[in-house]
Amino acid sequence: MRNEHRKMNLSMSRRRFLSVTGAAGGSLLLSPLLVGGLPVGKANAQEKAGRVIPFSLRVGILPGAPYGVQREVWAYNGQVPGPIIRATEGDMFRIRVKNELARPTTIHWHGLHQIGTWRMDGVEGLTQAGIAPGAEFIYEFLASPAGTHWYHSHTGVQYSEGLLAPLIIERREERSNYDRDEVLVINDWFRKPSEEILQGLIRGGAGERGGMQGMQMGHMPGMKMEEMADIADVPFEMGLINGRGRAPGDTKSPLTTFEVGQGQRIRFRIINASSTYAFRFQIDGHPLTVIAADGTPVKPVTVDNLLVSIGERYDVLVEGKRAGAYWIRAVTLDGKEVRAILRTRGARPAEPRPGPVVWGRRALTLAMLRPLEPVNLARAPFRQVTLQMGGNMAPYSWTINGQAYPQSSPIPVERGESIRLVLENPTEMDHPMHLHGHSFYVLGRPDRLNLTDPLLKDTVDVPARNTLVLQWAATNPGRWLFHCHIEWHLATGMASVFEYRGVA
Ligand code: C2O
Ligand code: CU
Repeated sequence: MRNEHRKMNLSMSRRRFLSVTGAAGGSLLLSPLLVGGLPVGKANAQEKAGRVIPFSLRVGILPGAPYGVQREVWAYNGQVPGPIIRATEGDMFRIRVKNELARPTTIHWHGLHQIGTWRMDGVEGLTQAGIAPGAEFIYEFLASPAGTHWYHSHTGVQYSEGLLAPLIIERREERSNYDRDEVLVINDWFRKPSEEILQGLIRGGAGERGGMQGMQMGHMPGMKMEEMADIADVPFEMGLINGRGRAPGDTKSPLTTFEVGQGQRIRFRIINASSTYAFRFQIDGHPLTVIAADGTPVKPVTVDNLLVSIGERYDVLVEGKRAGAYWIRAVTLDGKEVRAILRTRGARPAEPRPGPVVWGRRALTLAMLRPLEPVNLARAPFRQVTLQMGGNMAPYSWTINGQAYPQSSPIPVERGESIRLVLENPTEMDHPMHLHGHSFYVLGRPDRLNLTDPLLKDTVDVPARNTLVLQWAATNPGRWLFHCHIEWHLATGMASVFEYRGVA
């Protein structure tokens, strides 16, 4: 099978390479060519499914001063976010990664299950050694499951330097009731290099902490002050939507603008690729019909806004309304805004009037989302595993069951069993937890488990001072990381490894 893929690859690689990278060639960071979306690396739709999809990524450093701040930007193929990689489920990826950084790197394909290929999962020190400076590595894996996913460095705290990008797997039979498909990547962005931020936190910088300031804005709809958790470890500076944003005080730098015709429908694939912040997302005057969460289709639900935790993805349908320009807003829980623009074709003015967000009434909750297909977990046997999250600001450390990864013992897993994960979060912060290699059912709080139509996700927020129960089927042997996706929490230990018995 492998050889056959190689052979197909030889005949196709040149042509495909050109078509895939042609649109994304050169250094496009902040380029006006990107208005309205990202360059798309879409494979030729004529070819039958089950193809090999070759792709090439250079991991390098861009010197420059984006957003008026002189700092290094790390980038895939010279752009942030990196190029969109697209395929149809069942295709085989063959992604050649050339490391042009001065230090090792790896790439993780967040949301892909890596069925039978756990060594392609990209977790440095667990599934592979880092790709050495100047070296190449080829990732080969199945495009599965379908949905909106992303890829990012899984070495140290590298992804928040800019090593993040969308990865889209289309369903074999996509019934599209929309006119256009747009990817919308949100990420927070800091002046300091990530390694410096991390060292500052470890040195015990209470000064690094975002904490409670700005809370008086009473931000979340219907939420009382005392119910709010600590929001973040690093004060907010700015954020980007598809690589564009404005530092505080900047009113001129171009923002990502999506054009829409009246009555036209866009499918937005929203990805929160941040290191530190969750964002509440709204498009002023435009209801959002949620059709998928972490790639899994759901019964459509229409809301005004939704919270996107780090690592989560939501697909929403949006219909073009009255002529005009509208803010697309991604707002931290302490009220800091990141913006893009939705504009009807030919509308004036180019930009909506400034002004803080006014939230629509309908906010999405997880309980509102229902899968298309029910399940029945009531009778199925399972093994319960309890994981308790812990954390300390001084000394700065985050743990699971009192252990800090990688100094932690793996949790053994038997192929074929079902694991019911009880996640206890007694800390004052939310933790967006992500499981590699599988999706899990979100059963909910221990006192009211949903065993009949739980949502299937791979990343979920475990709220501060709460317990959340998940369940997943162990069907994919390997070594799989389960961790908090806040970059600083993962880097200081908030991770566990599920290790299938017999995996060498
Ligand atoms: Cu998005 Cu362990 O990764
Ligand atoms: Cu965390």
